Amino acid sequence: MRKLICALLVLPVLTVITVKAQQPDYDRKVDSLLSVMTLEEKIGQMNQYNGFWDVTGPVPTEKSTKEKYDNIISGKVGSVLNVLGTKEVRKLQELVVTKSRLGIPLVFGFDVIHGYRTLTPIPLGEAASWDLDAIEKSARIAALEASAAGQNWTFAPMVDVSRDARWGRVMEGAGEDPYLGSLIAKARVRGFQGEDLSSSGTIMACAKHYAGYGFAESGKDYNTVDVGTSTIFNVILPPFRAAEEAGVKTFMNSFNELNGVPATGNNFLLRTILKGEWDFDGFVVSDWGSISEMKAHGFVKDNREAAEKAVKAGCDMDMESYAYITYLKDLVESGQVDVKLIDDAVKRILHAKFELGLFDDPYKYCNAEREKKIIGQESNRKAALDMSRKSMVLLKNDELLLPLNKEGVKIALIGPLADDKDSPLGNWGGAVVRNSAISVLEGMERYTGNQLRFSKGIQLVSNEPAFAAGISINATDTSMMSEAVSLAREADIVVMVLGEHGMQSGEGRSRAFLGLPGLQQQLMEAVYAVNPNIVLVLMNGRPLAIRWAAENIPSILEAWQPGSMGGQAIAEILYGDYNPSGKLPMSFPRSVGQVPLYYNHKSTGRPGPKKDVYWSHYIDQSNDPLFPFGFGLSYTDFKYTNLQVKATSTPEVFVSVVIQNTGEMSGEEVVQLYIRDEVASVTRPVKELKGFKKVMLKAGESRKISFILTKNELGFYNNEGEFIFEPGDFEIWVGPSSADGLHTSLFVDRLDD
Ligand code: BGC
Repeated sequence: MRKLICALLVLPVLTVITVKAQQPDYDRKVDSLLSVMTLEEKIGQMNQYNGFWDVTGPVPTEKSTKEKYDNIISGKVGSVLNVLGTKEVRKLQELVVTKSRLGIPLVFGFDVIHGYRTLTPIPLGEAASWDLDAIEKSARIAALEASAAGQNWTFAPMVDVSRDARWGRVMEGAGEDPYLGSLIAKARVRGFQGEDLSSSGTIMACAKHYAGYGFAESGKDYNTVDVGTSTIFNVILPPFRAAEEAGVKTFMNSFNELNGVPATGNNFLLRTILKGEWDFDGFVVSDWGSISEMKAHGFVKDNREAAEKAVKAGCDMDMESYAYITYLKDLVESGQVDVKLIDDAVKRILHAKFELGLFDDPYKYCNAEREKKIIGQESNRKAALDMSRKSMVLLKNDELLLPLNKEGVKIALIGPLADDKDSPLGNWGGAVVRNSAISVLEGMERYTGNQLRFSKGIQLVSNEPAFAAGISINATDTSMMSEAVSLAREADIVVMVLGEHGMQSGEGRSRAFLGLPGLQQQLMEAVYAVNPNIVLVLMNGRPLAIRWAAENIPSILEAWQPGSMGGQAIAEILYGDYNPSGKLPMSFPRSVGQVPLYYNHKSTGRPGPKKDVYWSHYIDQSNDPLFPFGFGLSYTDFKYTNLQVKATSTPEVFVSVVIQNTGEMSGEEVVQLYIRDEVASVTRPVKELKGFKKVMLKAGESRKISFILTKNELGFYNNEGEFIFEPGDFEIWVGPSSADGLHTSLFVDRLDD
């Protein structure tokens, strides 16, 4: 701080920037600051380093680390990531503020993906709640904890639409649908950023990965993306656009190339669309090393050319490629890069720092007392519990084994994930205390006050899983299986907790098989042979191909990786204190050969079914998913009647339906509206979600639910990227999933803006 004040005394022009902002006049302040910055200092703002040493320890001596340290002191770093906790953040901020010439504060970034210390379910699980308020609240809690720990920027939300369950990162997104994904993107941005970025408790959000990352060929992470224009405009870009409309401050490039041009050097994505058409005024950060990875893509010959291409395309900040800090100065001085591009990038970054309030108080996120009070506080855990409950999807309950009776039923709990306190946390929890989740075993025992008969049955993994390492799945050791089978034989009901280890989904964790990993299928069948009264609780980070279970196991609850409070939420649902209301945000395949699988596919010229073989299908597998998008059951039943559709004079299309809870328990239903534009100049999907409402109904209660469809819902992007509406016939469905519902159609001849 002293250094900042000194700088202000010797550089009177800077005094304008420290006056506490009465009203945001950041442009003028940014311009003043820019006018006194050297080219090197400007480029420094565009440089982001990973956290690199115990900041509060001794000055580093190792060459590469020492270089980062020196660069911080000389004002050649604008941001760091992965520096956690107020003590470390304050120390680093002090270095830059007191030792660099201008004392421009750093911005601290971190992957706060589904919570900081208190973890909510993985984002795919949160999406299954279809509850935008709850999702917004969850992001707010994440921001509250992260900001209390010194962070002011999260690399979230990931808004990549994906149709491929093989891709490990589907756990980080909102699933396969651009409409749902767009609304969730907005909710998450609002949750992280709030109304005012400078207030404590809010942090900058980052819409990532721009763009197309979810379409990696064969679901293999970082793989090539080659998609048509219509998919780019209608599927990939809308959630990014939604995030931008919600005021997201930053975007992150994706690793992939898109139709031959890496996203980080992609003029079309960054200059034409994002900064051009959308007029985005925040800044763009590369993904980790994605500037220099353009060499491996075969797009540039070296890091110097990578820096040139990236900055020209519109990437404002270099995360860990060392390309900007090494080559930009020379590129400008040799006339290859116009300094105006540098100025534009730096302005965007400085603007964000002003908005965060860092120039008013560079230590505003470094209050150790606040950190102690807020992180892990009870209200955060309660919110996480609520989100967990809402995220779970009841996939099957044929023999009504669920809800379980609290008394008089002999239960055996079996499965390698049943007492796992780590897997519920997923793999994206850099600041979480590992092994801190409430396990299903703990949740059920706490809930009933009784000790449960429990056996793991098998070990799922045979090494100690770590964030950056591969995982070894146990495929041979069956020594514990007989104990589990004996327990099952004596029980009335068996609760089995199976799925994926928390480190089996996430970045770099694509799978070529989508069944239950390791010996779990064998365990399930062995248990089933002695006691078929099984309730299967699935814990996983992606849709699984669990056809045998779907055909044989009477009750299945999809719990995802449910976060810190997961075991408690699962217990409440199993015992019927919470009536499940989640709906799948991604289709579950019957077998991996169906993937990519998504409800909103095109018709093709040969839709079916037909008697002969000449239609678009498999000869050895149905086209249908095992569980469709939007599907999820409840302990009660809902009946849909009286679908009405009319075009009004407004002109809009008015749709209504009556829904009744015909069961004996209160419950929530997600009423979903789908359309099909039957004929269009660019073909449209066979179904598209265009509205939903989550309603709570008491037993016996009925309600009329209405939707309004405008040009926004009935239009689409043509291949020139223009959003258009074409009059014609539309089909409309309202119902409980993408595969069910009341149906009607109408002709819409006119819709005004
Ligand atoms: C991931 C990003 C993440 C970044 C920083 C990259 O490997 O793709 O999503 O934000 O690392 O941790």
